[in-house]
Amino acid sequence: MSTYGSFPAARPRRLRTTAAMRRLVAEHRTQPADLILPAFVREGISEPVPVGTMPGVVQHTRDTLRKAAVEAVEAGVGGLMLFGVPDEAKKDARGSAGTDPDGILQVALRDVRAEVGDELVLMSDLCLDEYTDHGHCGVLTGDGRVDNDATLERYAEMARVQADAGAHVLGPSGMMDGQIAYVRAALEEAGHTDVAMFAYTAKYSSAFYGPFREAVGSSLQGDRKTYQQDPANAREALRELSLDLAEGADMVMVKPGLPYLDILRDFAERAEVPVGVYQISGEYAMVEAAAEKGWVDREAAILETLTSFTRAGANMILTYWATEAAGLLRARR
Ligand code: PBG
Repeated sequence: MSTYGSFPAARPRRLRTTAAMRRLVAEHRTQPADLILPAFVREGISEPVPVGTMPGVVQHTRDTLRKAAVEAVEAGVGGLMLFGVPDEAKKDARGSAGTDPDGILQVALRDVRAEVGDELVLMSDLCLDEYTDHGHCGVLTGDGRVDNDATLERYAEMARVQADAGAHVLGPSGMMDGQIAYVRAALEEAGHTDVAMFAYTAKYSSAFYGPFREAVGSSLQGDRKTYQQDPANAREALRELSLDLAEGADMVMVKPGLPYLDILRDFAERAEVPVGVYQISGEYAMVEAAAEKGWVDREAAILETLTSFTRAGANMILTYWATEAAGLLRARR
């Protein structure tokens, strides 16, 4: 007996003694099937083009995209979220390439669906920014503001062509008011009653989107602060959640991930539908850059970020590391 009596009365360290013990008592474990791989496919290229700001990520050709989809399936990844990068010359004010049945995203959706069928959940980005010459997520009014209601009409048309091309799930990411209800109605009318919507419900106006804008060759002038949320607001995200659920969202998302774990936890506690989180380009770039300098252990850092999303309550995680991480998760068990 020490002079301190039986202190310490509790020894939480007992459950941390061996790797087997830690594995046994782990409260949360990210599964490969929770992961969704965001992928870029670019029109008119014969070789994949590396994205400089996202080492390891490329703009795919139609061919390499098919291969990436097969690799994702083999790794046990749950879904693929596709972004189209059209020819620069095809960008215009209304984002016409986004609603062209032969536009790059639609063609690639058909390719991937033909290649992997229902082996993974095929998702498509439903937004105009990749296709507009001004880089905004919608069409503009005469004085340069983003026109909410005129944009909804464009989204409805996009939804129809993406669903026709074989997407299982559409991801409206433009933050226009009423977009979920409007797109849902368009899908129902077109007979696409089984095509689901993964709403980008709380999408913040974030500095961490920077690398993505290179990945899709965005020509955005200015910012998206009149439609994406202010990082200062949490209650506003709950309002967006109520609206999206009432409008018929099948799944809801918080984006970005790491700076918004509080919002993710709020959603996980309140939503009656599955909750996803998008670990965005800047989050990816930060870890890759620090790892390249030898400042963090790359694989450990990747897995820790994924675990933090699962712990906060995410059912699904969009991450550019999806295929690799699925392998790491299986190896480490
Ligand atoms: C909009 C969209 C963006 C991202 C996904 N969908 C860009 C934006 O809102 O500026 C960002 C994804 C990322 O940064 O990884 N189509």
